[in-house]
Amino acid sequence: MPNCRLWVAEDRTCKDASESAHDQRLAETLLTNRDRDRWSRYRPLEKKRQFLSSRLVTKAVLNSEFGTNSANLFVDTMESGRPMLVDSRGRQVASISLSHTGNMTAIALSDIRYDLGVDIETVQQMNARAFGLSFINRSEYDQLMKEALTEDPNAILAIWTLKEAFWKALGGPQDTPLGNIVVEYRNASLNIDDACMTRKGKPLATQFFGHGYSFPGGLSNYSSLNVPESEISAFVGCVVLVDTELV
Ligand SMILES: CC(C)(COP(=O)(O)OP(=O)(O)OC[C@H]1O[C@@H](n2cnc3c(N)ncnc32)[C@H](O)[C@@H]1OP(=O)(O)O)[C@@H](O)C(=O)NCCC(=O)NCCS
Repeated sequence: MPNCRLWVAEDRTCKDASESAHDQRLAETLLTNRDRDRWSRYRPLEKKRQFLSSRLVTKAVLNSEFGTNSANLFVDTMESGRPMLVDSRGRQVASISLSHTGNMTAIALSDIRYDLGVDIETVQQMNARAFGLSFINRSEYDQLMKEALTEDPNAILAIWTLKEAFWKALGGPQDTPLGNIVVEYRNASLNIDDACMTRKGKPLATQFFGHGYSFPGGLSNYSSLNVPESEISAFVGCVVLVDTELV
């Protein structure tokens, strides 16, 4: 993908059931005032941990990406929930998107010229038809049904991650429910349909990633990640890069 870096991390530390002084200290040092306030209000504890763990991982990623300069970089959160990577003067230094599932965190980074979104989901047993009906629109459903994708949990999950990633890349607009985002499956590639372009940006690239995952009929824009001894047997995710100058 042009100008885009993806990191996937798994927290394998054993956590007991109570909040520790260590968590408190981490929150004090890692989080901006706004994010510390969010963190303190998170319930249940698992969600609270997930949030803190994602910020800890992000710090390590920023250290790898920006070296010593990373000491002055912070992930802050806009009112909409969109994360922003800023320096100590509050200036945006790169585009960032985050997603969590279980003890995993996906972090995507790109140049500020692009907006991007990432989503990661654990592969699980589910009623594909019922889940699909909650976010796939009628015309899209007919097209996907022809490819026999609507009955397959893995296919439905990939479509969900694509829509979520695109939704995040657009900044999570209230006026764009997932049902209004249309995907197409053509030449073994799953993408956002050009017909649902908004004035907010044009998808430039879509890349799926996963582990222990397969898509019915194959997915040419998919990369398999090697995650040895993962506690999660299978996951799938998607990154969408949007060019804000190509609208
Ligand atoms: C907000 C939402 C994307 C979170 O998804 P999720 O699967 O629960 O959680 P994920 O871990 O994948 O994503 C959470 C991250 O999304 C990011 N996010 C939240 N709001 C965002 C926004 N407006 N723009 C971009 N990114 C956003 C944040 O980084 C958040 O992580 P953080 O709180 O640690 O910073 C999702 O709940 C949502 O509302 N999706 C849109 C659904 C929709 O349109 N529904 C309408 C009816 S179909």
